[in-house]
Amino acid sequence: MTRYVISRSFTSSVERTPRVLEIAEGFGLGLSDKKFVIYDNLDLNIEDGDVVYITGQSGSGKSLLLRDLKSQMQAAGKSVVDLNDIVLEERPVIELIGRTTTEATDLLAKAGISDAWIYIRKPSELSDGQRYRLKLAKIMESGADVWSADEFGAVLDRATAKVIAFNVQKVARALGKTLMVATTHTDLKDELGPSLTITKRFRERVDVEQA
Ligand SMILES: Nc1ncnc2c1ncn2[C@@H]1O[C@H](COP(=O)(O)OP(=O)(O)O)[C@@H](O)[C@H]1O
Ligand SMILES: [Mg+2]
Repeated sequence: MTRYVISRSFTSSVERTPRVLEIAEGFGLGLSDKKFVIYDNLDLNIEDGDVVYITGQSGSGKSLLLRDLKSQMQAAGKSVVDLNDIVLEERPVIELIGRTTTEATDLLAKAGISDAWIYIRKPSELSDGQRYRLKLAKIMESGADVWSADEFGAVLDRATAKVIAFNVQKVARALGKTLMVATTHTDLKDELGPSLTITKRFRERVDVEQA
């Protein structure tokens, strides 16, 4: 069990252009610097192999939390792979993953790709959703300790997002990997079975539910 403490705030200073001044005057807005607190000593306990589900509205602070957790984990010596950092070579899908064809089809199936027609296409010829699933397959074979996905499933329809969520947590748990996902969607709880659900509210408010 590792303890992570997250604190984040910003000081906003407004650039005083003529239009900004006009708006400030018209709407009676003050322009003095304001401090916005997003996390105030949020205390989290995360164990290797946990599934961490971060939700909250757009702008509430999900990406910041994910980024801070990632860097604290890296500082603690863990290897972290981020779905958004996966670069796909422009070669047939079946060549991009696994040491053998069987291993490749196996990994792809776990990520929701089991169509021979997709195996022989190149990443640029896939839909966003198919590319996303391919990246998930790449994460699964990465060997990293922590798998992180911001905007998890955003390019997938909800039914597919649920299937993928279920499969990814299953593989992560089988391999003892820590999985952290952030999304505005709150409908993945059954599929992810999270060890930790973090619901970010506005200001520094946050609800934490430990399973
Ligand atoms: N560099 C920054 N300077 C000022 N405010 C920031 C900065 N980065 C993020 N924020 C603010 O922090 C809040 C949370 O951002 P973010 O974590 O990206 O939200 P989410 O991922 O939940 O949509 C937002 O309101 C955003 O405007
Ligand atoms: Mg975000």
